[in-house]
Amino acid sequence: MNIVLSGIRPTGNLHLGNYFGAVKNFVKMQEENQCFFFIADYHSLTTHPTPADLHGNVKQVLVEYLAAGLDPEKATLYVQSDVPEIAELYLFLNMNAYLGELERVTTFKEKARKQPDNVNAGLLTYPSLMAADILIHRSHQVPVGKDQEQHLEMSRTFARRFNRMYDVEYFPIPQAYNFGADLVKIPGLDGSGKMGKSEGEGNAIFLIDDAKTIRKKVMKAVTDTGPTALNQAKPDMIENLFSLLKVVSTPEAVQYFDDQYNQCTIRYGDLKKQLAEDMIVFTEPIRQRILDLAADEAYISKVARMGAEKARESAAKTIREVREIIGFRHF
Ligand code: TYM
Repeated sequence: MNIVLSGIRPTGNLHLGNYFGAVKNFVKMQEENQCFFFIADYHSLTTHPTPADLHGNVKQVLVEYLAAGLDPEKATLYVQSDVPEIAELYLFLNMNAYLGELERVTTFKEKARKQPDNVNAGLLTYPSLMAADILIHRSHQVPVGKDQEQHLEMSRTFARRFNRMYDVEYFPIPQAYNFGADLVKIPGLDGSGKMGKSEGEGNAIFLIDDAKTIRKKVMKAVTDTGPTALNQAKPDMIENLFSLLKVVSTPEAVQYFDDQYNQCTIRYGDLKKQLAEDMIVFTEPIRQRILDLAADEAYISKVARMGAEKARESAAKTIREVREIIGFRHF
């Protein structure tokens, strides 16, 4: 059975980048694979060490997972901190993770630059915790966006290293996965290239945003003064708007604005209006489900408890076997 796993940090609401980069694949994959989707609350402490409402943030992501189409009867949905076996595997992996390779990770360097007063050991060892997440269920495929590619490469390194050092073929080598072949990067609205929850106000469209908020954010998106020559190449900020249009609009709408651009007759205001309305059509039913589910405390608790139980069963088996392989014995 193909085992699929992925996770999201509870540091904000889910946005279209999370959806089209990751969650859309989760929804498809849960139909035919053994899937584990979790909320990476341990990871969130690497950047948000003293969250005001950690439990509330975790609950919100769980609600948004469900609203986006994850089915707790098909996939195992759980909270990372409900499965302490992950922390134990993280410890074992850290014994064979080297300072040099951890320091070279791009996201580590970026985060160290962004939070110079908090370059903590969790940030440095983020890739070994992520590898523990993946390896704890001996996963084969990991649906993620392009920004996680390097972390996945590290997970493969740690899996191979474990197998080699202990002379076993225990961990499968996990592969990054996207249905459309290449990993996806959804751009933000501020021209900076990536939609992200920490990229600043107005950059991200959240699944929970109402129509008015979406219209406002999209109308504010950065553009240039327009093309001046026929068929000229699009600058990044315009290319970004087209990339967003491609994920929420029809191919005809994309073609229409592309033609207009190529003929230098494009009105960015019209393109933005179309983009905003198509985003609203996409997000509105999800937003409604988020609001409904958030009110159903009993159901959310049931889903989390059921997920924790299933995830722990699988994790405990791996930890038992890993301890055996390394040589730990009970007296
Ligand atoms: P996180 O919480 O930053 O993002 C969750 C998922 O959303 C994807 N994503 C995007 N995809 C395309 N375009 C974007 N603009 C965009 N923004 C976010 C991410 O690629 C990710 O798939 N380290 C992970 C969480 C994690 C994890 C794991 C993932 C922890 N352990 C084990 C997979 C397996 C993270 O910070 O994702």
